[in-house]
Amino acid sequence: MSKVVAFIGSPHKEGRTAQLVHEILRGARDAGAEVKAYNASDAEVGPCMACFSCREGPECATKDGMQNVLADVKDADAIVVGSPVHMCQVSAHAKMFLDRLFPLIGLTMTPEGPSLSARFPTKKILFAYAQNVPDVGVYTPYFDWVRSSISATPGAFITMGDVVLGSSLTPEPPGLAVTLEKAYAAGKALA
Ligand SMILES: Cc1cc2nc3c(=O)[nH]c(=O)nc-3n(C[C@H](O)[C@H](O)[C@H](O)COP(=O)(O)O)c2cc1C
Repeated sequence: MSKVVAFIGSPHKEGRTAQLVHEILRGARDAGAEVKAYNASDAEVGPCMACFSCREGPECATKDGMQNVLADVKDADAIVVGSPVHMCQVSAHAKMFLDRLFPLIGLTMTPEGPSLSARFPTKKILFAYAQNVPDVGVYTPYFDWVRSSISATPGAFITMGDVVLGSSLTPEPPGLAVTLEKAYAAGKALA
């Protein structure tokens, strides 16, 4: 059975980001995966302290809630990163989570520059964004950049695309039903 672990990088436990992520997980569960979700609002994941102790091995020296999240992430087959768009970027919560994935990645310095390597078997990774701007294409260059940056380590992640909801602050976002269908299908593809 495959394992899918999600981090909901929104301060709102029941907001639009959470709605997308739970629909993704529903798809993954229906396709046979074991699923687990962490909410930023109670996971107690703080920032990377840049101590570089994870350069020696795959452990994080910062003893906060990320210890639990990392334990799940390390043996996950797929990861879901949910984020509201804040100031045209991922939320601070989601960024902290992404930075804290550094223990999954090995780094050696070579005369040609830093060389990155995967410390764990390749994981699928899917991003889910909620944004208030109605045009879901407006941040595509940024979302592409986030996906390509997570792909920079050979063999660490295989990106499974983005699920994006616009008009997230309106009571009934016009694209909601279609986006939830996409979320469910994307979740199935993670299993
Ligand atoms: C600090 C802040 C900055 C925001 N910046 C943007 C933005 O740049 N573009 C956008 O479309 N929506 C922006 N929003 C709206 C959020 O994307 C929206 O509140 C969020 O998608 C709702 O998701 P949630 O229910 O999970 O919080 C911003 C909201 C906050 C609180």
